[in-house]
Amino acid sequence: MGMTFGDFYRGRRVLVTGDTGFKGSWLCQWLLELGAEVHGLALPPPTDPSLHVALRLSERIRHRDVDIRDSGAVNAAVAAARPDVVFHLAAQPLVRASYQDPKTTFDTNVGGTVNVLEAVRKLAGPVVCVVVSSDKCYENREWEWGYREVDGMGGHDPYSASKGAAELVVASYRRSFAGSDPQRGMRLASARAGNVIGGGDWARDRIVPDFIAQMQAGQALSLRNPNATRPWQHVLEPLSGYLLLAQRLAGDASADYADGWNFGPADASIITVHDLATRLVRAWGSGTVTIDPVAPKVHEASLLKLDCSKALSRLKWRGTWDVDQTIVRTIDWYRAFHAGQDVLPITRRQIGDYVADAQHIGLPWTDGMRERAHG
Ligand SMILES: NC(=O)c1ccc[n+]([C@@H]2O[C@H](COP(=O)([O-])OP(=O)(O)OC[C@H]3O[C@@H](n4cnc5c(N)ncnc54)[C@H](O)[C@@H]3O)[C@@H](O)[C@H]2O)c1
Repeated sequence: MGMTFGDFYRGRRVLVTGDTGFKGSWLCQWLLELGAEVHGLALPPPTDPSLHVALRLSERIRHRDVDIRDSGAVNAAVAAARPDVVFHLAAQPLVRASYQDPKTTFDTNVGGTVNVLEAVRKLAGPVVCVVVSSDKCYENREWEWGYREVDGMGGHDPYSASKGAAELVVASYRRSFAGSDPQRGMRLASARAGNVIGGGDWARDRIVPDFIAQMQAGQALSLRNPNATRPWQHVLEPLSGYLLLAQRLAGDASADYADGWNFGPADASIITVHDLATRLVRAWGSGTVTIDPVAPKVHEASLLKLDCSKALSRLKWRGTWDVDQTIVRTIDWYRAFHAGQDVLPITRRQIGDYVADAQHIGLPWTDGMRERAHG
């Protein structure tokens, strides 16, 4: 079906931490399409329903129940998986939950990242590792320019600060332990993406899942923060960046790839929550939008955007679907789920559509990048 990245992933052992989560489940499904031998490591699915369960991933990948705060368990699971490639996604990913429980957030996102990198460092063979971070890792200056990879780390709320801190951990491990010996050692990069949307997300306090549930129930969409702008993108967009980055890291030990990378959407997809809600209602076919009179009590960043020039110039990576295409795919997926359909076919079809559309606009990762990387 031409799922691309050359056939770099065919037969490779790939470990996904956070495979029971939203992004991790999409990534595992794409890796299965690519012919990888997929291993997962995470706590049980954080939501019910969950995409991991809906796709029956536990039957099709080798999942291990592991708390990444437990270094012994992480070491054992990573050693057993013997991965060629690691995508580290496991995290406490919610800003509001981070205010309620900052310690768990820091323990998981910072200490857990240390545990994963320690376990990866102990592996005998060469290994490529992409740590999934967030646009929120940057010190937010509340300005209109996009953040570049060279900008400083920071974070106001505990979630953002934990992602900034995890980035410092990654940078330290890279400087201290990642070697260029092709026979040994790890090659380490981090990837920063914005708010992702798509079918199969049931996390609390996430705007699109909340909106879908409200539309489903025939309620008005209630906006907490209508004027906040966010860089909306389909979950497959940053995943294509992670997959491409790992492939490039494997082919080239130089600092060209072992670094931080932004994988955000084009400017046209950076719209306000109010604009997004209006488009969702239009695509859904019915519904109304109201502003929640109880303004949020906690600080939430109001403006955030990534400058993705580096990914474009060095990886030839950019997004494929605009915000309306993203919304249509998302609604189609939830409609299928709520109609009681098996969602594996629609998930596979959407991955196929995404690849075909990326191919159509000529993105190089869609045709035999491996030959090019080695050529
Ligand atoms: N969804 C977004 O919009 C978004 C945006 C930027 C960055 N991210 C990052 O992407 C990654 C995945 O996010 P998601 O949206 O899929 O979240 P999710 O909540 O759906 O998944 C989180 C995963 O981490 C696992 N996990 C949590 N605590 C753990 C622990 N102590 N030990 C082991 N596993 C644990 C969960 O079991 C789950 O598999 C996270 O690192 C998140 O910070 C997400």
